[in-house]
Amino acid sequence: MDRYAVFGNPIGHSKSPFIHAQFAAALGEQLQYDAILAPLDGFADSWHSFVAAGGKGGNVTVPFKEQAYQLADVLSQRAKQAGAVNTLYLNSAGKLCGDNTDGIGLVADLTRLGVTLNGITVLLLGAGGASRGAIGPLLDAGVKQLVLANRTVSKAQAIAANFGAHVRACGYADIPSQPYQLVINATSSGLSGERPLIAAQHLQHCLLAYDMLYGAAPTPFLQWAKAEGVPQQADGLGMLLSQAAEAFYIWRGKRPDITPVLALLKQQLSGN
Ligand code: ATR
Repeated sequence: MDRYAVFGNPIGHSKSPFIHAQFAAALGEQLQYDAILAPLDGFADSWHSFVAAGGKGGNVTVPFKEQAYQLADVLSQRAKQAGAVNTLYLNSAGKLCGDNTDGIGLVADLTRLGVTLNGITVLLLGAGGASRGAIGPLLDAGVKQLVLANRTVSKAQAIAANFGAHVRACGYADIPSQPYQLVINATSSGLSGERPLIAAQHLQHCLLAYDMLYGAAPTPFLQWAKAEGVPQQADGLGMLLSQAAEAFYIWRGKRPDITPVLALLKQQLSGN
């Protein structure tokens, strides 16, 4: 049976084995997908042992996405733009290929939620790996202008420098006053029970507030957006599933439907 795995540290709570098992069952694909705890200083060794044991492809999560980027022989355009790799596979020549499906997963999820990205202005909060990987795919999907705002402005500027005039960097206090149809929280603020401290006026024209984090309850950012009257809010569970679906497609040539698995995961999260 073909073997795949997600590599991370920690990895115990990863939903990827469940997700890929569901995808495989739905599409009649015979495969095994495990979670591998790689030592913090041993990602490359873990990967090589996995391949030596017949491993065909992998997902990479925190904190190994940059190391996977270094390890790959061939990088996709979107991996290069993200500066990180979340999907690895061997091509027919045996070369290790690194791709990044996080940003395209976000775009797929936004599309599923009914957002028209073409021609809109987006406010993207945060300037870590999550944010960087999203920018190229959002622009490719037709976003007209993207304002990248971060608490630490220098990090936003460093990322924006990789993109053209469509991306503008700023701090939270100097976000340009203009209509944003979509506001995305790519910060990790929700993990500490906080939200990015931007002014409410930036939500005035927002049709959807999106948080890349997810959990049993809405994140502080989504709660705030709802209280401010944003008509639709969504967390990052759909993005998690969509990035997995894109990785599955790369490996197996079949694109799974995320809808039934999303319903199952929502049930699990709510404890039912
Ligand atoms: P990731 O790879 O998940 O994007 P990261 O590289 O650690 O994670 O980046 C975390 C992001 O969340 C950063 O943009 C960080 O802002 P700073 O660069 O100013 O540190 C942001 N962040 C974390 N906690 C935050 C908070 N309480 N309020 C606002 N931004 C926060």
